[in-house]
Order: sequence, then structure tokens, then C-alpha cells
Amino acid sequence: MFRSFDGLGHQGHTLRRVTALIARHPIVTLAGTLLLALATLSCYRQPTEEPRAPTSPDPVKHGEYLVRTVGCEHCHTPGGIYGEPDPKRQLAGSDLGWKGPWGVRYPANLTPEMETGLGSWSEDDIVHAIRLAQRPDRTPIQVPMPWFHFVYFSEDDARAIARYLKTIPPVAHQVPERIAPGEKPTGAYIDVPPAPAWDAQHLQ
Ligand code: HEC
Repeated sequence: MFRSFDGLGHQGHTLRRVTALIARHPIVTLAGTLLLALATLSCYRQPTEEPRAPTSPDPVKHGEYLVRTVGCEHCHTPGGIYGEPDPKRQLAGSDLGWKGPWGVRYPANLTPEMETGLGSWSEDDIVHAIRLAQRPDRTPIQVPMPWFHFVYFSEDDARAIARYLKTIPPVAHQVPERIAPGEKPTGAYIDVPPAPAWDAQHLQ
């Protein structure tokens, strides 16, 4: 009668407890079923109204829309890759490394914090980083950062993202240094293996 709640994390835990309660007290089955329906509804995160408009005359709102939809938070917000980005540390960088043929790289702190984030970057620096995959010192920003998609952002879109990034709360957090290929990381990382034959046909 009830669906499996495995894989729903703490939401699944709540739903399993409600289901168990109903099973122990058949007399409250009807009330329990209603409760379960309510719990299910409240557990699933509903899409919010803001920011929803595909474009907005307000560049900050438009930048927020782009950041949310394009998925910067998937990597740059702690917990993003687990489906639970922490709203209190939005875009504050992640200590989860991406290990691959390139070594290990860490999603940077994009908040406007002066020492550890983008606080010292101008709006133009951020636009340049997004559209040309280069830091202000002209070093390349490389994979797994999907720079090869972001070079297609228009100047206006990249600027909207830069404006928005300047408005989010600064968070002091230094992400680990990049690690060269062959060196062993000490912390947690996602291991990207060498590409399998089909994927590697065009790579040397
Ligand atoms: C798949 C994961 C991923 C996604 C999605 C992603 N990034 Fe990144 N980003 C990274 C990683 C990893 C680095 C570090 C790359 C390196 O070391 O060369 C990085 C670096 C950067 C940097 C350089 C910052 C610095 O201090 O060096 C900027 C700016 C940046 N990302 C902006 C963005 C924006 C804006 C978005 C969304 C539009 C985004 N990223 C989406 C993984 C990601």
C-alpha cells in the first residue's frame, strides 16, 4: 500500500515512522493515512515562486535565476552534490575534491568574502572568469568546472551573475589547494576514472 521511502534520507525516515505508527494502531488508519499524505506533501520541496521569471529587468534577480537554474550550487555550495545545498553557506565553496587525470580540484568560494572568496574580484573579473574561463591573474579555470558551457553566456547574462554573486552573504572559507596529478589527496574526493573507450574516441 505504501511506497518505499528508501533513498529519501531524513524525509524517508519521517515517512517510515508515520507508516509504522499507522501499522501499530489500525484504529487510527484513516487519520494516519491523512497524516501520511500531509507528511509526504510537506516533505517534498515545493518549487518556490522566486526566482522564476526567465528574464527580469533587475540584473540581480536575473543573475540569481541563472545561478539557480544553471546549477552553480551543485558544486560550489556544501551539500549540493548530495541534493541538500546548505542555504546558510550558499556558494561558499566545497571541500569535496574532484579527482581525475587533472589531479584534484575544489569548487571555489564564490561569496564576496575578501580573503577566501571573490571579494577582491571586480564585476569585470567575474564576467571575464565566466566567459573566458580565466582568473584575474590569467590562470585558467579548468574542469570539472563546466567552463566550456559557460563561455556561451552572453555578456549581459555573465554580468547579471556577477552582480548577484556580489549580493550574497560573504562566508569565510578557504577551499583546499588544487593537487597535481599523481599526488594523493588527504580529504574526501569524487574519483573520475579515465574515460571508457566510447567516451574517449576523440581524446588522445
Ligand atoms: C561540476 C561542478 C561545477 C559547477 C556546476 C560550477 N563550478 Fe565553478 N568551479 C568548479 C571547480 C572544481 C572549480 C575550480 C577549478 C580549478 O581549480 O581550475 C571552479 C572554479 C570556479 C571559479 C574560479 C574561482 C577562483 O577563485 O578560482 C569561478 C568564478 C566559478 N567556478 C564560477 C562558477 C559559476 C558562476 C557557476 C555557475 C554558473 C559554476 N562555477 C558552476 C566546479 C563547478
